[in-house]
Amino acid sequence: TAMHSPGAAAAERAERRWAWIVGGIIFLLVAMMVVTGLHWAAMPPSRVETIDPLTLHMQGEFVESNLGTAVDAQGKVTVRLVAQQYSFTPQCLVVPADTPVTFRATATDVVHGFVVGKTNANVMLIPGFVSTFTARFPQVGEQLMPCHEYCGVGHEGMWARVQVVD
Ligand code: CUA
Repeated sequence: TAMHSPGAAAAERAERRWAWIVGGIIFLLVAMMVVTGLHWAAMPPSRVETIDPLTLHMQGEFVESNLGTAVDAQGKVTVRLVAQQYSFTPQCLVVPADTPVTFRATATDVVHGFVVGKTNANVMLIPGFVSTFTARFPQVGEQLMPCHEYCGVGHEGMWARVQVVD
């Protein structure tokens, strides 16, 4: 029409093109949010490593004789423990001071968790999953390790001890 000079038509095409590009970018961002949101919503809060809570005391890494503190040939310290209503196995953990200690733990029945004294060691234990984290305990001495997820009537009495030794 008379109102559309060739310049105005070119400008309109450019505007339309940019509207599509901006729309595409917005769509891509929303799609990324939805995909990552759904992906992480399906994850437990720890690293995803599964284990059968019904058989873990009979075979594999979490049999009773394999629990507690282990030092491998390279000097790497690993502590393995199991939580159940209403105790931790083992009840007392011995760890070296000022050394990275890797914890591997799980629960057999319901969700438990623990903190170690006034340290930043803090984890949730979920039946069916192995929780792993690494902590360092600079202070020699004994720390209490209470369960910090409500797990039933005995929750208040569920705790273990951590002995940090030189
Ligand atoms: Cu176990 Cu609270």
